[in-house]
Formats: sequence, C-alpha cells, structure tokens
Amino acid sequence: MRKLLITGGAGFIGSNFVHYLRRHHPDYGVVVLDKLTYAGNLDNLKDLAEGPHYQFVRGDIADAALVDEVIARHQINVIVNFAAETHVDRSILDPGAFIRTDVEGTYTLLEATRKWKLERMVQVSTDEVYGTVPEGHATEEDKLAPRSPYSASKASGDLLALAYHTTYGTPVLLTRGANTIGPCQYPEKVVPLFVTNALEDQPLPIYGEGKAVRDYIHVDDHCAGIATVLHQGEPGRAYNIGAGNEVNTVQLATAILDLLGKPHSLISFVADRPGHDMRYALDTTRLRALGWEPRYSFAEALAHTVAWYRENEWWWRKLKSGEFREYYRKQYARPLAEGG
Ligand code: NAD
Ligand code: DAU
Repeated sequence: MRKLLITGGAGFIGSNFVHYLRRHHPDYGVVVLDKLTYAGNLDNLKDLAEGPHYQFVRGDIADAALVDEVIARHQINVIVNFAAETHVDRSILDPGAFIRTDVEGTYTLLEATRKWKLERMVQVSTDEVYGTVPEGHATEEDKLAPRSPYSASKASGDLLALAYHTTYGTPVLLTRGANTIGPCQYPEKVVPLFVTNALEDQPLPIYGEGKAVRDYIHVDDHCAGIATVLHQGEPGRAYNIGAGNEVNTVQLATAILDLLGKPHSLISFVADRPGHDMRYALDTTRLRALGWEPRYSFAEALAHTVAWYRENEWWWRKLKSGEFREYYRKQYARPLAEGG
C-alpha cells in the first residue's frame, strides 16, 4: 500500500486533498500531520474513521523528532506538504510564524525525505512567489520576486526544495497554485469572508480601489493538479496550477452579492493592503501537457462555494466567534471606520 503523509491536512486544501484521495485512490493509506493552528479544523476530516487507511497525528512539521517518528511508525513513502501559515494580511501583522513553518518546517520535511529515502515529496507552493505579474503569464522558469512576508517565506521553501534536488538528488516536486476557493476555507480569505459577511449583512471590505486581479480556481481542480504532479511530475520541477480566470475584487464582491440577493451597498472601500500585488496570472502549459485541465468555470466555482457556505453555517459560525473576532478587529475596525 502507498503510504502518504499529508501535512497540513486539517486545513482548507489539505483536507479537500485527503477527500480527493479517498475518492480517487481508496487503496492509499493517509496519515495527516497537523499542528491545528487557528486554521486547522478537525471538522474538515470528521467523516473519516481512523483505521489502516486514515490516521491523524497532531504535531508540528518543524519538529524533526516527531516527523522521524511518524515516518518510521507508519512506513511513509511519500510526503505532500500543505502545512503553512497562509494568510498575507496576517504575515504583514506578524511574520514570525511564517518563517518558522513555511521555511524551517519545509526544511525539516526535506531533511526527512532525504534521510528516509522517500519516493517523493510534493511541496505545495503558490503563484505569489512570482510577485505581481503586470502583463502576460508567469512560467515556472520566471524569476521569483515575492513581495510579502508570506510569499517570501513560501519562495524560500521553493528555493530550499530545488536546492535539495540539485545537491542531494532529493525527489521533490513543486506545485504553484492560484487563489483557491471551495468548501472549508477559513473565513479570513476574501471569498469566505465576503460570503459570510454578506450572509450576516455586514460590510464587504475592499482594499484600495478593488482593481487587484486574482485567478480563482476551484479546490477540486487544484487537488487534481497536485495529484497529477504527484503521479506524473518530474522531480526537481515546478508546476503552475491555475484556471485562467482573471477577476478583480469589485467584480468578485458584486458577483457574490448577486448570488446571495444582497445589495451592492454592502461594499465598503478601505485602505489598501501594504505592497498589494495587483495581478497574478499563470502559464499552465507544463501541467496541461500531463493531461490536467480545470473542470469548473469561474461562475460554477463561485456558485458552488457560495452555496456551500449558505448551507453550512454550522461550519463557519463558530469560527467567526472565536479567535477570528480579535483578528477581524485588529485588521478591519479602523479601516472600516475611516473608509466605510
Ligand atoms: P490553511 O491555512 O487553510 O491550512 C494550513 C494548515 O496547516 C492548517 O491545518 C494548519 O493547522 C496547518 N499548519 C500550520 N502550521 C503548521 C505546522 N507548523 N505544522 C503542522 N501543521 C501546520 O491553508 P490552505 O489555504 O489550505 O493552503 C495549503 C497550502 O497551499 C499552503 O502551503 C499554501 O501556501 C498553499 N496555497 C494556498 C492557496 C490558497 O488560495 N488557499 C493557493 C495556492 C497555494
Ligand atoms: O494566489 C494564491 C494565494 O491566494 C495563496 O498562496 C494564499 O495562501 C491565499 O491566502 C491567497 O492570497 P491572496 O492575498 O491573493 O488572497 P486573499 O483572499 O487574502 O485576497 C484576495 C484578493 O482580495 C486580494 O487582491 C486582496 C483582496 N482583499 C482581500 C481581503 C481579505 C480585499 O480586497 N479585502 C479583504 O478583506
């Protein structure tokens, strides 16, 4: 049996990937290692019963002794690393945890992959490592130009991974995914924040003039791309995963309000994000050559996501009342009062 260690598997994309594997590769054994930070959520995995095909371990990817112990005990042969601090705005407020997890944690997993001679490690990275892309599309060979503490920490992980491949022949592959949407995304990210705020008749805070463009991709398409790289990718290479949707924040907010039948007057323009990247766009030729293509249009991906949040208030209401409330106050109270 193939035994996969899915780090960060209690978060948004990681938990969707665990379910993707259950559907498409039911013979695989999956061990989730997750620290359960504010973003980790066992509700995302609650329908899985512990047994030979699924086990959960709480812990830190930067804890080398624990990683060794888990690999040995479960006879792991592949790592897919989703574990990270992931929110740009939090990286601006407090970058320390990003360096510890996204850089040191990645280093720890690379060392373990080398030491235990694992078959493969997939390092899940982001389109943000290319920095803002004023025109055209970023290819995997473009130079990295990260501009936020988050993207700089992810780019550091990418460079370490590539260096391990060059220096030691470590069989590591990189994926660089676009802005992902779908079920179980923590409500700090723009789509779940706007959907849940709209459902509560609260303002939708748009940074600056709302002209920043992102390529929104459905999480199932992102997971299928990661699985394609896991099975068919060439070690030492990066693979972009994007759907080719170019949507700015005003278009996104109005589409969400229209889907929910809420007034556009809920939109509130607030101070811009410092160092805001104004456009991401990916060239996905390399991944498409392996047979992958996105299945959801932007309209379908957004409609599915909005419907999920509308139908699953039990999932997000308790999140919005906990740690989130303090974060929201710190991030938005003043901008909303000044700009709303
Ligand atoms: P998330 O914030 O929803 O989940 C991150 C998970 O990692 C959580 O379960 C958290 O508890 C866990 N974690 C954090 N630090 C840890 C540590 N030190 N040890 C073990 N577990 C730890 O993130 P996400 O949006 O699902 O992103 C997953 C990966 O995909 C990240 O590497 C991110 O950079 C990348 N990515 C995300 C997007 C996106 O739009 N969300 C797009 C491209 C790439
Ligand atoms: O592109 C991939 C990246 O997408 C991932 O690597 C990150 O983990 C993920 O958080 C996401 O980063 P972004 O910064 O692009 O996503 P976010 O949801 O924070 O913001 C998307 C856009 O919406 C961006 O232009 C900023 C804007 N925005 C965001 C928030 C939270 C607003 O205008 N208002 C907001 O309140």
